[in-house]
Amino acid sequence: MAKNTLSFVCQNCGAAYNRWQGKCESCGEWNTLAEEDVSGNASVPLSVRAKRKGRLFNLESLTGESRDAPRIISGMSELDRVTGGGFVRGSVILLGGDPGIGKSTLLTQAASMLAKAKHRAVYISGEEAVAQVRLRAERLGLATAPVQLASETSVEDIIATLSEGTPPRLVIIDSIQTMWTDTVESAPGTVTQVRASAQALIRFAKKSGTALILVGHVTKDGQIAGPRVVEHMVDAVLSFEGEGSQQFRILRAVKNRFGPTDEIGVFEMTGLGLREVTNPSELFLSERDLGTPGTAVFAGVEGTRPVLVELQALVAPTSLGTPRRAVVGWDPSRLSMVLAVLEAHCGIKLSGHDVYLNVAGGLRIQEPAADLAAAAALVSSLANAPLPVDAVYFGEISLSGAVRPVAQTSARLKEATKLGFARAILPESSSADSSGTTLALHPSSSLVGVVSEIAARGKRRGPAPPPQNRDDG
Ligand code: TYD
Ligand code: MG
Repeated sequence: MAKNTLSFVCQNCGAAYNRWQGKCESCGEWNTLAEEDVSGNASVPLSVRAKRKGRLFNLESLTGESRDAPRIISGMSELDRVTGGGFVRGSVILLGGDPGIGKSTLLTQAASMLAKAKHRAVYISGEEAVAQVRLRAERLGLATAPVQLASETSVEDIIATLSEGTPPRLVIIDSIQTMWTDTVESAPGTVTQVRASAQALIRFAKKSGTALILVGHVTKDGQIAGPRVVEHMVDAVLSFEGEGSQQFRILRAVKNRFGPTDEIGVFEMTGLGLREVTNPSELFLSERDLGTPGTAVFAGVEGTRPVLVELQALVAPTSLGTPRRAVVGWDPSRLSMVLAVLEAHCGIKLSGHDVYLNVAGGLRIQEPAADLAAAAALVSSLANAPLPVDAVYFGEISLSGAVRPVAQTSARLKEATKLGFARAILPESSSADSSGTTLALHPSSSLVGVVSEIAARGKRRGPAPPPQNRDDG
């Protein structure tokens, strides 16, 4: 008798249970279990499978030669930077991002670039009709690029078609959630279907040496919906981010077997598609509020590239029992830490104030080096003391209130000089590797020094002007 292979699979994390329950014990999500047939290729009886003998294969040494250049350069330098120097042959990339962020646009542009360079590039859309994809290509001015286009969702048909003729250099599947394969019986979009479809496509990519890009949708909380399981199967996971209301888009590697994971690619969404931004600092600083209290320029580094960005803080008195702490683009727990250090070591009481911190331009900062700039912006807002407009800040703050050194000091200083800044407030022990800079350096060993300097500027300037009476009637 055939074994019953029905089981209940969590659509969020892929954990399987043999009876239904309301909450997934593995990821803690509610109502995510759905009944699925997880038998896979159960059509081959066990007795036959047991008799089959394994095929012998060659074992090789580590020093063997690998033929031909393993990377395919897309020609979009921001994309190539994030992938680590181009798509690796036979590798699989998962591209995640919110709906409407520009994933299809980015990939249409990349496919067109490769096709124009005489590579076979295939774009399979499971979401849009061929006419819609064409319309987008027309808008991008790429309608003449010899990209091979289809609107298909059956994995078997796709693989059969791709296996014809010369193997493609690049295949784009937009999106993996819309694909389905005959080998499993679950509905499209379920974890089992997504996993089986991805497996079949990945097998094809590895065998044919094709670079494969799978598009994955992202849920509200930033997870790649359903196929968390796919993240483990692919070589690289890229995420395409940005604020819907702003035109900047940031491509970030979350996982990369063939390159670094701290590089970012910066794009701007224009009426004619995505434009590469080769100097992001200029872009992030383009709309600076000069001379307003509460803003500090942070000299950061993303991967190998220095990026200058403005941090904006607002510290306002509150009547709430629990004051608000809101932060966009930075780690909220780092903000809490900086506030605690300001309170404990610099005598700044913020328990009666709401605190807001924003990273301008929609960038998300992960470096601890932003601590000093954040602290400077906060104190500047509280003391109503604008920071010097020609100064950049960087340095990590320790719980003891010391300013700790950070890496790549000279790259940060060079970028600041290039953009016309005249001074840098930096950790004392970092100023050693800053030889040759023309910036005036203000090395600081503790946060107290930086804070008292800003507070002194505020005293010279006097208290904040009273709010204007806006009652026009
Ligand atoms: P799209 O690539 O379809 O997003 P995704 O595939 O991630 O869902 O991009 C959708 C948005 O991009 C849409 O709101 C319109 C905008 N857009 C432009 O602003 N300029 C353009 O040239 C294109 C093609 C799209
Ligand atoms: Mg799309």
